[in-house]
Amino acid sequence: MKKVNGQGDYFRIKEPKWSWEEIGGLTDAKERLREMVSLPLKLPDIFAKVELKPPSGIFLWGPPGGGKTILSEAAAKSADASYITVKAIEIISEPEEIERMYDTALELAPTVVFINEIDALAPNRKQQLPWSISHTRDAPLRLAPTETTKILYEQLDRMSSRKDVITIGGTYRPDVVDPQLLRKGRLEKKIYVPAPDYEGRIEIFRIHLKGTPLSKDVSLEDLAEKTEFYVGADIEGVVREAKIIAIREKGEEFDSLEARHFEEALRRIPPYLSPEIMKKYNETYEAECDHCYLF
Ligand SMILES: Nc1ncnc2c1ncn2[C@@H]1O[C@H](COP(=O)(O)OP(=O)(O)OP(=O)(O)O)[C@@H](O)[C@H]1O
Ligand SMILES: [Mg+2]
Repeated sequence: MKKVNGQGDYFRIKEPKWSWEEIGGLTDAKERLREMVSLPLKLPDIFAKVELKPPSGIFLWGPPGGGKTILSEAAAKSADASYITVKAIEIISEPEEIERMYDTALELAPTVVFINEIDALAPNRKQQLPWSISHTRDAPLRLAPTETTKILYEQLDRMSSRKDVITIGGTYRPDVVDPQLLRKGRLEKKIYVPAPDYEGRIEIFRIHLKGTPLSKDVSLEDLAEKTEFYVGADIEGVVREAKIIAIREKGEEFDSLEARHFEEALRRIPPYLSPEIMKKYNETYEAECDHCYLF
């Protein structure tokens, strides 16, 4: 990760590391990102030939720890594009950095710009929090001043005619976002990144256990069965915890992870999502996103 022009550390140019195969489940989200980000950045001439204008921006939303950040990296990587990442919270007080970030994106184009927690940069100022704050992992949000949001919109509008810079804004709070952010020419396409389903969880366990010796009593199907409501980051946490438990117990005798190590890990790590929160996400998806996959 290198700093830009040796200045500040507000946005980062990063080598995208994650690839599609290392991301379990989330088949639909991957497919849409391929179509809407990777292919257009990789094959601009073909898109021009058939007069297909790719979306200028994607609104990527879903529960925290669900894979939004790594999906955006994989989209950049598979397009051989540059990848610039920024946390909205960090750039809030430095609005001129937003313009500099997009200047850099143009210099390095084709580029994916990923703005994490975009709700903080483009908050809905009119509406009360539709979901209660207890649905978030974090303390109440720090919001950008109106002027900063305006600068973001100016930059998104500046990029809207370009085919070589695509912005992906990630959030786990779709309920607090300014509708102006989702206007045509800005983050005009919405992609939902849901909690992984049963098959997805099996894949995520497999990915995070790659290379780890497992005893015969460990069944990934069984683990997936027991982890309804766990997102990718939770599963990663369970695997890490199971490894620590096993090493603590076996020390130098460690040979493999056993089912009971996972059982203890699952007791230690509850899922982030509850049925109640999951319902909020799914209701929002049904209400908002019916047509959002259409190109
Ligand atoms: N589908 C997945 N497959 C494999 N690993 C996953 C998956 N989803 C999440 N992870 C793991 O969880 C970590 C956190 O995921 P990520 O940062 O992409 O979540 P996020 O949706 O961006 O969360 P937030 O809303 O908090 O920013 C990843 O670095 C990865 O190790
Ligand atoms: Mg993220």
